[in-house]
Amino acid sequence: MVEDVLAVHPMKLATEDDVLLVRRRVREIAEMRKFDTFAIAAITTAASELGRNVLVHGGGGSATIEEISDGHRAGIRIAFVDAGPGISDIARVLSGGYSTAKSMGLGLSGSKRLVDVFDLDSKVGKGTRVTVTKWKRF
Ligand SMILES: Nc1ncnc2c1ncn2[C@@H]1O[C@H](COP(=O)(O)OP(=O)(O)OP(=O)(O)O)[C@@H](O)[C@H]1O
Ligand SMILES: [Mg+2]
Repeated sequence: MVEDVLAVHPMKLATEDDVLLVRRRVREIAEMRKFDTFAIAAITTAASELGRNVLVHGGGGSATIEEISDGHRAGIRIAFVDAGPGISDIARVLSGGYSTAKSMGLGLSGSKRLVDVFDLDSKVGKGTRVTVTKWKRF
């Protein structure tokens, strides 16, 4: 699928406040593009969880929010990138309930279910990139 990128919003993730700013920006874009209530909540929640992971597990990084279109539908794509320790067992963290932070371990698995496209790329010692896309429903 070929997608047009209509706008790009690069944002840093260095503090808790940055996570809130990313969350707010994602919500604003989804509202502006007239996503339905469920889709707004879904992409906002995923952005918040994945942004927190960048901070807590990745030692900070960035979120790049893209407003995209496939010619018919509007979408929001967000890439969360850090240069932290990386993830050694991707299958395990995606299955849910596993955490190295004594937390619920539901951020990644929950986010995956909330979006239309979920891509996790990680290399131990190099860092992690999680890219998610939410399409507006007709
Ligand atoms: N960006 C990242 N860099 C390195 N490890 C990560 C990253 N994101 C997630 N992980 C690893 O995957 C595990 C699961 O992440 P997940 O977000 O599902 O749960 P959590 O952050 O531990 O808890 P919570 O339920 O509060 O989100 C983490 O405990 C961590 O070990
Ligand atoms: Mg998490």
